[in-house]
Amino acid sequence: MDLKIIDVLQMYENKVILDHINLEVKDKSGIVLIGPSGAGKSTLLRLLAGIEDPISGEIILNQHIVTQEDKKAYYKRVGFVFQAHNLFPHLTILRNITIVLEKVHHMDIDQANKVALKLLEQFELIEHKDKIPAKISGGQAQRASIIRSLAISPEVVFLDEPTSALDPILSHEVLKTILKLRVNKTNFMIVTHEIEFAKKAADYVVFMEDGKIVEHGNVDILDQPKTKQLQNFIANVSYNI
Ligand SMILES: Nc1ncnc2c1ncn2[C@@H]1O[C@H](COP(=O)(O)OP(=O)(O)OP(=O)(O)O)[C@@H](O)[C@H]1O
Ligand SMILES: [Mg+2]
Repeated sequence: MDLKIIDVLQMYENKVILDHINLEVKDKSGIVLIGPSGAGKSTLLRLLAGIEDPISGEIILNQHIVTQEDKKAYYKRVGFVFQAHNLFPHLTILRNITIVLEKVHHMDIDQANKVALKLLEQFELIEHKDKIPAKISGGQAQRASIIRSLAISPEVVFLDEPTSALDPILSHEVLKTILKLRVNKTNFMIVTHEIEFAKKAADYVVFMEDGKIVEHGNVDILDQPKTKQLQNFIANVSYNI
């Protein structure tokens, strides 16, 4: 994916949340967004996904000028996975995926089933296809959310701390699923605190603090951070493990 963020300002209630952010990356497939709590990571991800608009500035993702795009059309081109899964509770895992393909993407049911079953097979959830979300584990449900976001072959999938609601074992399952996105050549951008995972999954890292992008570059910056802020952040995250 190509991404250009030009002088983006976001404020909530007179408080600056994103402070004139700029970034340009070309031809990256996995971008990891890290930084302390309150840095503005989720806010930036929502802006990139078109869920909200900035006060000023421009965001260009591939050929989309997100800040000017018809949002309905844009949502059909990108996926979003939240901290907790947001599957429809009364529908089976299979139907959770096919309903989106049918209703939003106007696929016929046979085609929708074909696409969904193939993904469920590939991501090792096929045995749970007829269960409702309450009957599978949190990790499996989160993986099903990821698969649902993939079903439309999105240009980019945005994931906001998709493992933060899970225990370490279930997190591991989900992280493995996300690593598979690389194999699948699905572009993604993820907010995560899992530094070791970031090193494996990402080909670009963006570190934010206090509404600013403080450091960004290839994954090497996680081993050799240049700024004091990123050095401190990594030391603290490692300490917590
Ligand atoms: N809807 C909102 N209204 C007012 N303030 C908000 C809103 N959403 C976020 N904020 C504030 O914006 C700042 C950045 O929040 P954001 O959720 O983007 O941070 P974050 O980096 O994702 O943090 P975390 O790691 O805790 O998820 C915080 O100070 C937060 O309190
Ligand atoms: Mg957040």
